[in-house]
Amino acid sequence: MKILGIETSADDTGVALLQAEGTLGTDFSFRILGNALSSQTAIHTTYGGIFPAIAKREHTKALPLMLEECLKQAGEKHADAIAVTVGPGLEPCLWTGITCAQKLASEWRVPVIAANHMEGHTIISMVGGNVQFPALALLISGGHTELILMKEFMRYEYLGRTRDDAAGEAFDKTARLIGLPYPGGPEISRLAADARVTSQEPRIKFTSPMLRSDNFDFSFSGLKTDVRRFVEKNSPLSDEIKKEIALAVENAITDVLVAKTLRAAEERGAQTVVVGGGVSANAYIRSELSSKLQAIGCELLLPPPALSTDNAVMIALAGYFHAIKKDFVDPAILKADGNLRLA
Ligand code: KG4
Ligand code: ZN
Repeated sequence: MKILGIETSADDTGVALLQAEGTLGTDFSFRILGNALSSQTAIHTTYGGIFPAIAKREHTKALPLMLEECLKQAGEKHADAIAVTVGPGLEPCLWTGITCAQKLASEWRVPVIAANHMEGHTIISMVGGNVQFPALALLISGGHTELILMKEFMRYEYLGRTRDDAAGEAFDKTARLIGLPYPGGPEISRLAADARVTSQEPRIKFTSPMLRSDNFDFSFSGLKTDVRRFVEKNSPLSDEIKKEIALAVENAITDVLVAKTLRAAEERGAQTVVVGGGVSANAYIRSELSSKLQAIGCELLLPPPALSTDNAVMIALAGYFHAIKKDFVDPAILKADGNLRLA
């Protein structure tokens, strides 16, 4: 089956065409025929975050170009099915993708799948390995921080989530407080990596919120407050101190993500931990999860680094697994749902 994926939920405009066959766990295989992605990062950097009206305008401009580019790469004129992200995300942005999918579906006379962005982040990590169920998913992005139990493929049960800011948001907001551009995750991570090389013992420590709480929820807004207070007391900040702050922020976020993931895996008997979402690009989080999960005999599945942040390959993949179950929707009733859940 050739399946087209369309992603416009935040600040990346993506279109991908996949050729996929088989069932996960037995004979599944796929090939990326085309993958076009346009990022608005440079535009939003000046605002320190995503500005929805501007994001929508940029999607509207970029989407036809990405579609053309993707089909050209693939050497195809159409697909057998179309998967479009309908949520979660910014509704004005989601509508751009939906309108495009509706138009293509009627031109090509092919079925449409309403894809969940977070399912895309989950499945892109699962296709690269051998998943044993029950499996645990840790989803960490700019808008979400969730621990989800999967008793079987594509069946989700929420164990915990963030009560305020998402992990990616914590990176973005603390980065902004120390004068780093949006998106803050890669910036904090770069500075923290420098500090890891030079300093033996971290000189600054921020508390990992809810580290010891007896549930699987997260909270990151307190970290932002701690960083703000520290910055107010210690300004102007030298480059060295910025690195120390970045290190302390990365450590605080990592400690709580790793501790809760480990405990959830143990308590729920998960053999496999699947990590997805833009924050899973973070090298330190990857290495900490990897060593700690290995120690308890749990397999860790991560997305390929280039497909960790938003892209349309993951949407086409998630769409494929719905398409083989004939889980299609009438394009006319497609609707953006900013808070779409997995269960
Ligand atoms: O999944 P994603 O691309 O978009 C959403 O669905 O939100 O995730 C974007 C988030 C941003 O908050 C960004 O700062 C974070 O992922 N991120 C990182 C890294 N790369 C991206 N956070 C930490 N370390 C990174 N290397
Ligand atoms: Zn995402």
